[in-house]
Amino acid sequence: MPFHALLVDNKDGDHSCGIQLVNEDQLPAGNVEVDVHYSSLNYKDGMAVVGEGKIIRGDFPFVPGIDLVGEVTSSGVDWLDPGDFVIQTGYGLGEDYWGGYAQKQRLQAKHLVPLPEGLTPLEAMEIGTAGFTAMLSVLALEDAGVSPEQGEIVVTGATGGVGSMSIAILSELGYDVVASTGSEAEEYLQALGASRIIPRGDLGAGPQRALDTSRWAGAVDTVGGDTLAAIISQIGRRGAVAACGLAGGHQLKTTVYPFILRGVTLAGIDSNTSPQEERRRAWRRLAEDLPKPALERMLAEIIPLDAVYDRSQDILEGSVQGRIVVDLSA
Ligand SMILES: NC(=O)c1ccc[n+]([C@@H]2O[C@H](COP(=O)([O-])OP(=O)(O)OC[C@H]3O[C@@H](n4cnc5c(N)ncnc54)[C@H](OP(=O)(O)O)[C@@H]3O)[C@@H](O)[C@H]2O)c1
Repeated sequence: MPFHALLVDNKDGDHSCGIQLVNEDQLPAGNVEVDVHYSSLNYKDGMAVVGEGKIIRGDFPFVPGIDLVGEVTSSGVDWLDPGDFVIQTGYGLGEDYWGGYAQKQRLQAKHLVPLPEGLTPLEAMEIGTAGFTAMLSVLALEDAGVSPEQGEIVVTGATGGVGSMSIAILSELGYDVVASTGSEAEEYLQALGASRIIPRGDLGAGPQRALDTSRWAGAVDTVGGDTLAAIISQIGRRGAVAACGLAGGHQLKTTVYPFILRGVTLAGIDSNTSPQEERRRAWRRLAEDLPKPALERMLAEIIPLDAVYDRSQDILEGSVQGRIVVDLSA
C-alpha cells in the first residue's frame, strides 16, 4: 500500500519539497519496518526542508526528519516484535538515510532503542534529539563526578531545545541551575526550574582570563566560542563542562590552566553516534528524570506533515520557542 512522505529533491540544482505517495520498495535497506507515529522538527530539519546548508548527504529525492518513533510491523531481529515501539535519533537518520517524515520507514535494528517504560510515543518525540543530547550532557557531568552539593550549574542557550531540556533535568535532579540567555524568557526558564537567570553577555563578552574566579560546579554549553572559553576558565575544582553545541561559534580559545590546576573535565557530546549502551541508558534516565510538566511546557505545537515546510521557515527565522512534533497519522 502506498503511503505519504515528505520528499525534498534537488533536480538540476533546483530545490523542491512536497508530500508524495511512496511505495515500500522505495524505502532504504534495513531489517526492521515501522509505522512511524511521530517525528519532530529540529533546526537541522528546517534547513533540510527549505534547502539551506548541506544537511542531506544521501541521494535525492530524500525524506528528512532526524527523529522518529514508530511501531514495529516486521522485524528481522529476535529482540523486537511487531507491536513494539522503537525510537531512532541520529546515526544518519534524515541526513544519510531516509528519515521520520514518512508514514512508514525501514530501519536498521542496531540503530534503534526500545521506547522506555514511562514514556509515550508522543513524549519521546517531544524529547527528540534535543532532549537526548541534554541527557547525554547531564550524564557526562555525573560521570565526571559533579554532584548537586558542589555548586551551581550554568546552562547556555537556555531557551533552545537542548538548553531547556537540560535545565528541566538538572533541576529535577536537585542541582541549582543558572540559565544563560539572550532572550526575554524569565518566566519560561523559571518554570522549567532555573533558579537564576544571567544575560548571554555575562559569559565571554569581555576580555578573557586564563583562569577566572570559580563560579560554576559544572556547565552544559550549547553555544561554544568565547562563551565556552569563559565557562572553562570559571569552572571550580574537579568541575566539568559538557560541550554540545556551537550556536555562537565553533572556535575555542583556551589554555591548559583550568585542566591542570583545577582538574576540570571538558566532555564532548556527540548524540549522532552515541553507542547503543549509552543510548539506552540515556533514554531510561529521560523516562525517570525529565519531569512531565516541564515537557508539556516545552511542547510548542503538534503539526501534520503538510505544515512542516511553513514551520521550517519559522524555525530558521528563530520565531519558534519549544519543541515541534510532527504527527504522521494526521
Ligand atoms: N552535540 C550534539 O549531538 C548536538 C545535538 C543537538 C544539537 N546540537 C547543537 O546544540 C546547539 C543547540 O541546539 P538546539 O537544538 O538547542 O538549538 P536551538 O533550539 O536553535 O537553540 C539554540 C539557542 O542558542 C542561543 N543562541 C542562538 N544564537 C546564538 C548566538 N549567536 N550566540 C549565543 N547564543 C545563541 C539561543 O538561546 P537563548 O536566546 O536562550 O540565548 C537559542 O535558543 C546547536 O549548536 C546544535 O547544533 C548538538
